[in-house]
Amino acid sequence: MKVGILTGGGDCPGLNAVVRAVVKTAVLEFRTECIGILDGFHGLIHNHMRPIGINDVSGILPRGGTILGSSNRDNPFKYLVEVDGKKEVQDKSDQVIENLAKNKIDALVVIGGDGTLSIAHQFHRKGVKLVGVPKTIDNDISSTGVTFGFNTAVATATEAIDKIHTTAESHRRAMVVEVMGRDAGWIALHAGLAGGAHVILIPEIPFSVEKVVKAILDRRACGRMFNIIVVAEGAKPEGGRQFVKRIVDDPSQPARLGGVGDWLGVEIEKATKIETRVTVLGHVQRGGTPVAFDRVLSTRFGSMAMEAVSRGMFGNMVALRTPNIGLVPLDEAINKLNTVPVEDSLMKTARLIGVFFGD
Ligand code: F6P
Repeated sequence: MKVGILTGGGDCPGLNAVVRAVVKTAVLEFRTECIGILDGFHGLIHNHMRPIGINDVSGILPRGGTILGSSNRDNPFKYLVEVDGKKEVQDKSDQVIENLAKNKIDALVVIGGDGTLSIAHQFHRKGVKLVGVPKTIDNDISSTGVTFGFNTAVATATEAIDKIHTTAESHRRAMVVEVMGRDAGWIALHAGLAGGAHVILIPEIPFSVEKVVKAILDRRACGRMFNIIVVAEGAKPEGGRQFVKRIVDDPSQPARLGGVGDWLGVEIEKATKIETRVTVLGHVQRGGTPVAFDRVLSTRFGSMAMEAVSRGMFGNMVALRTPNIGLVPLDEAINKLNTVPVEDSLMKTARLIGVFFGD
């Protein structure tokens, strides 16, 4: 048997650990050959792939990124091509299936976020044998306790907030920290709590600028002369819209969010006259070595994905069902955003210790 491994969409810490676990389980337990697909679905469309063995995955467990490369521009079902100087969308899915056959690939392990797993599901419906692995720092995939990469992103953001704390105190400033997460507030909520933020703004709760300003001033009136405001990139003011920083020309891709932090910083300074600074953490949250939790979760996911392949349990995604790793049908897992439930017990804890959510 020959298994192709593909990492798609935005990268995240732990991808290499999954690749390593798939290869090790394949070779050591199932005597199965592995092929690394290069640059996500781009590699399947253009036939860019190479054999990948135990030696190739040696030492990659703690390494961020993906040794296979990734791409979030290459949806084979809606592939953007230039014809006579004009961009048009073409369906390249049959070309992918031909390339799988040409390379004698029997099954795929597809590691990706919701977009990549939705494409995988479409291929499964076309008869491709595959198993999905949920990846994203945003933790917005449903049907799994958590995605790998999330805990690393939270650790990175928390460390940054800790550092911002000390300078905020020295200068008695209001500090706004914008974190990633797209339409889900998980990173903001967890890093905000871990970093002791006073205000946390998440996409799930539209915020009132007036109330945020009041919370800042109230805290100062009690003698605590600095403020840490963590804002998710997808958070929006009441009655307003999410802030978009980049529209991409590929119709299968979402607009990139960002800018709410800078806007909010100006609003806070205007209303309070308190010196305010904004830090946008950006892609540092996606890079670097995975924390131990993510290394372990990635290893369990990768190994389970290969086991599922060997048992012929295709069309599924591996998932954390604490304390076990299980399988969920892909069509149950995709297109269902896992956002922060506003009545979540963690939200309750945060409110009980005085964190303000802008509502
Ligand atoms: O989904 C992961 C993520 O990092 C989001 O948090 C963020 O909105 C987006 O990807 C950024 O995408 P890009 O790297 O394409 O700018």
